[in-house]
Amino acid sequence: MNNKDKSADKITVSTIRKKKAAGEKIVMLTAYDFQFARLLDEAGVDIILVGDSVGNVVLGYENTIPVTMEDMLHHTRAVSRGRKHALLIVDMPFMSYQVKVDKALVNASRFLKEAGAEGVKLEGGSEYAETIRKITQAGIPVMAHIGLMPQAVNRIGGYRVQGKKEDEEKKILNDAKSLEEAGAFAIVLEKVPSELAERVTASVSIPTIGIGAGPDCDGQVLVIYDLLGFDDTFKPRFIKQYANMKKDIISAVSKFSEEVKQGKFPTKDHGY
Ligand code: KIV
Repeated sequence: MNNKDKSADKITVSTIRKKKAAGEKIVMLTAYDFQFARLLDEAGVDIILVGDSVGNVVLGYENTIPVTMEDMLHHTRAVSRGRKHALLIVDMPFMSYQVKVDKALVNASRFLKEAGAEGVKLEGGSEYAETIRKITQAGIPVMAHIGLMPQAVNRIGGYRVQGKKEDEEKKILNDAKSLEEAGAFAIVLEKVPSELAERVTASVSIPTIGIGAGPDCDGQVLVIYDLLGFDDTFKPRFIKQYANMKKDIISAVSKFSEEVKQGKFPTKDHGY
């Protein structure tokens, strides 16, 4: 049986648009596998993003640059099998949409045809308006991403806050308008001053989803491992850890290890 939920509580792009109009906050989180997709879906998350942050947090790369189309397709298929209600959006990896508009369209379509995604996200401002228009016109919803764009880490020279300088601020405001006009259904605003995020949010009719962009965006997104506290060495100001999974996992694994060594696990009850 197909596990996709066709019922009234299936989140669609139209649900997301309506949330902004109704003043209801949008909740987005990343997931990269079947189990997390099931948990996030059960917890009622609106949008599951298969982020190219998979490169850093799952595959152990230094940044998102090495992530491939095949990596993203593989993880999207797993997530797709686990979620029912949430809208499933996937990041287009570095160089899958930058070279040619036609190639971007073909790559975007693969996520829907081969992996069960319902839309794509791509980093970039007005330079990508034509690409977004083409992909959207083909029936593929596009979430835009401006502010700090991790795929541009080598150009920017790090992960600093964007939009503090006047020219950057102007560009972000103009980009948001162009992206809306091009047909994007939402915009991720990453690491921009809260006051700028508030202005962007007020200036467009599509929802903004913030990460390190303050409380006034229409929604919020975090990387699931950051929220759960898997890495106590990575604690930028914009992250709130709602659990300490690092501690809990190490404690559970150490306990198991001790019990195996001491012959306390398994007991007769665990056998057949
Ligand atoms: O790749 C990612 O996880 C993202 C979100 C943090 C917005 O782009």
